Amino acid sequence: MASRTCQGGVTTPESNIFEKYLNRGTVFQDKSVLTSSYVPPILKHRDSQINDIANILSPLLNGEGASNVLLWGNTGTGKTVTAKYLGNQLKTILECEREGILINYIYVNCQTADTHYGVLYGISTHLYSKEEVDTGIAPPPTGWSLDRVHQALKKRLGDSKRVTVIILDEMDMFITKSGDDALYSIMKLNESDSPHGGKDIQSPPRVSIIGIANDISFVDLLDSRVKSRFSNEKVHFTPYITDNLQDILSQRAKLAFREGAIDDSVINLCASTEARVGGDARKAIEILRISGEIADRIGEKSINTDIVKKAYNAIERDYVTESIRALPAQSKHILMSVALNAEAGIERQTTGDVYETYQQLCRKTGLSPLSQRRVTDLISEMDTQGLVNARVRSFGRGGRTKEIALALPNITNVKNVLECDEFLSSMNGFKVKHQTTLV
Ligand SMILES: Nc1ncnc2c1ncn2[C@@H]1O[C@H](COP(=O)(O)OP(=O)(O)OP(=O)(O)O)[C@@H](O)[C@H]1O
Ligand SMILES: [Mg+2]
Repeated sequence: MASRTCQGGVTTPESNIFEKYLNRGTVFQDKSVLTSSYVPPILKHRDSQINDIANILSPLLNGEGASNVLLWGNTGTGKTVTAKYLGNQLKTILECEREGILINYIYVNCQTADTHYGVLYGISTHLYSKEEVDTGIAPPPTGWSLDRVHQALKKRLGDSKRVTVIILDEMDMFITKSGDDALYSIMKLNESDSPHGGKDIQSPPRVSIIGIANDISFVDLLDSRVKSRFSNEKVHFTPYITDNLQDILSQRAKLAFREGAIDDSVINLCASTEARVGGDARKAIEILRISGEIADRIGEKSINTDIVKKAYNAIERDYVTESIRALPAQSKHILMSVALNAEAGIERQTTGDVYETYQQLCRKTGLSPLSQRRVTDLISEMDTQGLVNARVRSFGRGGRTKEIALALPNITNVKNVLECDEFLSSMNGFKVKHQTTLV
């Protein structure tokens, strides 16, 4: 084989597998602006939310505590980025204009730190130096009692003479997992100890909490002690419409792509598609990134609408696989029953058809079958997730039935993912045996 010598004197084969990638062009100029950690210098179409929150937080500029506030809205509507953006703005104005007032702006993602201890520890990591961590003064990642961490944080916040904003992102998840006692204890970080509860702290720490959640209904389920501290200030993040997403995507695309690599038709396609299904800016930005990666891979100098469609197919496949894998065993059996019925040519499946196959399948795999009523509920859940379509159909004299179909085009793919399940892996050779219900 022909060989050549590199500068360092190492001999390499002529046809290195990576050579073709070395000088390949790219549509990207700065891909990092398409990542979720990037905070844009200007947030478009969030003026009203930004003004409302700034107004609530404004007492901080005088070194006073501010109210707690709850930001809520669908996924990808800019809640996290707005909270981070306001943190940057506050830091800048305090540095430039209000010397002497210091602020702790603490961001904790409760999905990552999803226990009571985890969230307190997450807060503590912003308040102690490396030296204090090394010498055991700071709370460790595990091992102290909750009360000890709580007291340590309270003292630290009180001593620091700073006002503190704690952002609890994905707060609904935290409460679902850890209950509202945990939230109550965090809210009490800004209160003096009661006369019965040990030492009185002269000036209580000034702590405000910005809670972030998708669904506001969890507030109704909170204990009244917590609710009363949280329910006054709420800011809703509405889903973006097509025009909003066009502006957001254009702003991002200018920084992310080389000149001429993307045009308005591509941006409009992403914006209108996402506006139709919930106005999620994250997904729209992700589609731009994946489209760019596909363009690079196939050697195109610019992104066209065909590439965007490929990006959508790729993202849908991932979503479907993930959602099926995350289903509980019972739902997986029900989904498999719908897939098997469809494969056996039962086009208009009733709940009865699905239930019959499901029972036979459970016998084969050893799973205890649920009642038909429970199976109907699980079918409705999968309908909401977009895995099946369940339509109520009327037939003569006021009769009604539910017609169920797989919402996913490729039955084989669905079956392949389901067969990875512990129970369903033992269904090999199972065949549907029953009569089609006539509707
Ligand atoms: N108004 C905006 N201007 C520019 N970029 C935005 C805007 N709104 C959202 N984005 C971008 O869209 C993506 C999603 O936003 P963000 O993470 O804030 O959504 P979220 O509401 O917190 O969603 P989730 O509920 O899923 O956590 C981020 O990359 C963010 O930078
Ligand atoms: Mg978020």
